[in-house]
Amino acid sequence: MNVLIIGGAGYIGSHVTREFLDIGHNCTVYDNLSSGLRENLFADAKFIHGDIHDYPLLLDVLKTSSFSAVVHLAASKAAGESMTNPAKYSRNNISGTINIINAVCEANVKNIVFSSSAAVYGEPQYLPIDENHPTNPENFYGFTKLEIERLLEWYDKLKGMRFASLRYFNAAGYDVKGRIKGLEQNPANLLPIIMETAVGLRKEMQIFGNDYDTNDGTCIRDYIHVSDLACGHAKALDYIDKNNKSIKINLGSENGFSVTEVLESARKITGKPIPAKITERRSGDPAKLTASCSLAQKLLSWKAVHSDIDTLIKTSWEAYQK
Ligand code: UFG
Repeated sequence: MNVLIIGGAGYIGSHVTREFLDIGHNCTVYDNLSSGLRENLFADAKFIHGDIHDYPLLLDVLKTSSFSAVVHLAASKAAGESMTNPAKYSRNNISGTINIINAVCEANVKNIVFSSSAAVYGEPQYLPIDENHPTNPENFYGFTKLEIERLLEWYDKLKGMRFASLRYFNAAGYDVKGRIKGLEQNPANLLPIIMETAVGLRKEMQIFGNDYDTNDGTCIRDYIHVSDLACGHAKALDYIDKNNKSIKINLGSENGFSVTEVLESARKITGKPIPAKITERRSGDPAKLTASCSLAQKLLSWKAVHSDIDTLIKTSWEAYQK
């Protein structure tokens, strides 16, 4: 398939591009390199330096090559920041995505794979969270993702556009074959912060609260290896294309690890002390989040295979040691 990967130079985007190339898709990466990195580009994919807000360029790119699908991963993704700077998230995640959807429509591209998030669910009412769980985002980031899901449903009905909305849980790790060279800049997520502390870029990290209702008092999350996520994108695209049907689907590991468990494993694997201090809770953090992925297993025959805690940490550590 001929695929345009928007945001393909980013952390998840570069892993998705590598996976698509590996299985024989013809890939073009479209990225403004605001957080994506040149070193994440591959020689076997074309590259267009472009912005999602540039509608004429997007349309021109989509019209001049006959793409069968667009994968859209270009978004701002720090949930905490979205609460203090909603304008940035409205612009990048809503306006930018509307541009893409309209260009996709105008160029008659049939399929779109959209990076959604488990943040669309908000505070869990039951665990593990399946796709029927009510959607009630706690942060503005989750709201932007949910708005786009709603928009996509309308374009599916009105324009016959088929979409796969992939509700990621906590993406982590690096390519199991070590082929991604760029490290995320200014990360806000737990694992890269642990790694930056392990290599000495940070003196100390913070554990946001140890008084939650969990075994050790720290929050439990479902960490999904980015190589597993990438594979989920390929399978989801295949599904919507073959079945001419849109889907909204969870991608997680179905396992939960606490902050302390992740940190202890990282200390063991890296052999580094990784100093950490307990601080106040971070606002908007639910105590536990775990995914049910039975729908992905049923429809896509997809299951996480690299998302055990050792592989998550080892692949990250290999990337950070370079
Ligand atoms: N944490 C720390 N210290 C840190 C960073 C994080 O203790 O320095 C804790 C958080 O409080 C949380 C856990 O580690 O309990 C994971 O936090 P992250 O910031 O890594 O991830 P979140 O669970 O907040 O959110 C992530 C993505 C979102 C996505 C969500 C889906 O960043 O975009 O997973 O589950 F929506």
